[in-house]
Amino acid sequence: MERSCFLLSITFLLVLQLQYSSVGTVGAAQTNITTDQSALLALKAHVTSDPHNILVNWSTTTSVCNWAGVVCGARHLRVASLDLSYMDLTGTIPPLLGNLSFIVELRLINNSFHGTLPKELSYLHRLKLIDFEYNNFMGFIPSWFGSFPKLQTFNLFKH
Ligand SMILES: *[C@@H]1O[C@H](CO)[C@@H](O)[C@H](O)[C@H]1NC(C)=O
Ligand SMILES: *[C@@H]1O[C@H](CO)[C@@H](O)[C@H](O)[C@H]1NC(C)=O
Ligand SMILES: *[C@@H]1O[C@H](CO)[C@@H](O)[C@H](O)[C@H]1NC(C)=O
Ligand SMILES: *[C@@H]1O[C@H](CO)[C@@H](O)[C@H](O)[C@H]1NC(C)=O
Repeated sequence: MERSCFLLSITFLLVLQLQYSSVGTVGAAQTNITTDQSALLALKAHVTSDPHNILVNWSTTTSVCNWAGVVCGARHLRVASLDLSYMDLTGTIPPLLGNLSFIVELRLINNSFHGTLPKELSYLHRLKLIDFEYNNFMGFIPSWFGSFPKLQTFNLFKH
């Protein structure tokens, strides 16, 4: 009896873990690739200047995983990396970017992004790398930047 209770609770933990790893969560809501698409379209809507038309194929007629600068993970088929470095983009970062629940690497090096970083970015628990060097973000480090469990590289501001 005791043994079966023990096994049951182990199974329960495993099921919990599996759910946690295969379904992105934003608060309690489930997310999917459509969530990633909305998050990136919000970013596009916050870009006020794109002189090289980098974001021209960021549209619903093309799969998100084929958008410029986007790489999806082989396992979950969700956005795993976003790299828009050296693209001469001007704009701000919308709170919806915090819905990219499977993103591991986020690079926006050398553009003209400005304003403050939304605290919703702290939902990105899988992030290992953030590189926002050479932009014009407000010059302070938000307190929630301590909340990324996996973050290894973190470069925020203009040098
Ligand atoms: C994503 O989830 C929404 C509801 O949460 C659903 O309507 C939509 O069909 C899903 N999209 C995909 C591609 O699974
Ligand atoms: C979108 O643009 C990127 C970069 O120019 C390119 O690599 C990619 O193939 C394009 N995707 C489609 C579907 O045209
Ligand atoms: C995405 O982000 C916004 C703003 O942070 C939030 O209101 C919304 O519920 C989120 N979830 C989905 C699934 O889009
Ligand atoms: C950033 O990009 C600009 C052109 O947009 C270039 O002149 C400058 O040298 C770049 N800076 C770095 C550090 O790469």
